[in-house]
Amino acid sequence: MTQLSSSGNELIQMSEGAVILKGFLLKHEQELLRNLERITDLSAFRHMVTPGGYRMSVAMTNCGPRGWVTDERGYRYSETDPETGHAWPEMPALYSQLARQAAAVAGYHDFCSDACLINRYIPGARLSLHQDKDEKNFTHPIVSFSLGLPATFDFGGRTRSAPVTPYLLEHGDVVVWGGPSRMFYHGIRTLKKGHHERMGSQRINLTFRRAH
Ligand code: SIN
Ligand code: FE2
Repeated sequence: MTQLSSSGNELIQMSEGAVILKGFLLKHEQELLRNLERITDLSAFRHMVTPGGYRMSVAMTNCGPRGWVTDERGYRYSETDPETGHAWPEMPALYSQLARQAAAVAGYHDFCSDACLINRYIPGARLSLHQDKDEKNFTHPIVSFSLGLPATFDFGGRTRSAPVTPYLLEHGDVVVWGGPSRMFYHGIRTLKKGHHERMGSQRINLTFRRAH
C-alpha cells in the first residue's frame, strides 16, 4: 500500500507498525555524509566475528552512547569501541533529530535513540534474516537509514519461517518498524554490483535503536 505521509514523502506500509519513507533523507545527504566521515575517522569500519566464529561480510561501526558489537563472547551493546578502547563517536544532532522525525511520521512519538549501528555493504555482502533483540527496550521502534547502492530488504514476520516480502531500499529511504512488528525478522539480500553517483560502489545503513 502506498500513500503520502504528513511530510509529503511517499510512504509504503509493510505491515502494521512498519513503513518505508521514500526519499526522506535526500535533503540532508551532504550533512549526513560529512558527519559519517567524522565518525569513521574516529571509529573505523571493521568486520566483526559472530559468536559462532564467522566473519561478517558487512563492515560495522557505531556512534552514540552505546554501540552494537559481536565477538566470540556474544552479541551485546558496549559503551566503548573495543578497537580503540574509547567511547564511540558522539551521535550527531542531525542524526538523532532525523531519526526522531521519521519515527514520528510513522506514528512513534518521542523516539530517543541511544545507539546507532552503521553498516557498510560492498557488492557481495549480505545480512541474513534476523531479529533485533539485543535491546533492553522493545517499546521503541527501529529506525533505519539507507544511503548509496540500492538493496533488497526482506521483511518477514514473528518467526524465521514466516513468509518474507522483498522491498527495494534506495538512497535516502528510511524504514521504521515497531509496535506489533518490532520483533519481525528482516535481512538484506546479497548486494549487487553497481555505482552510486555520490557513494560509489557501496551501501551505508544507519540503524537507530533504543538499547537501554
Ligand atoms: C539491520 O538489520 O541491522 C540492517 C538493515 C539494513 O542494512 O538495511
Ligand atoms: Fe536488524
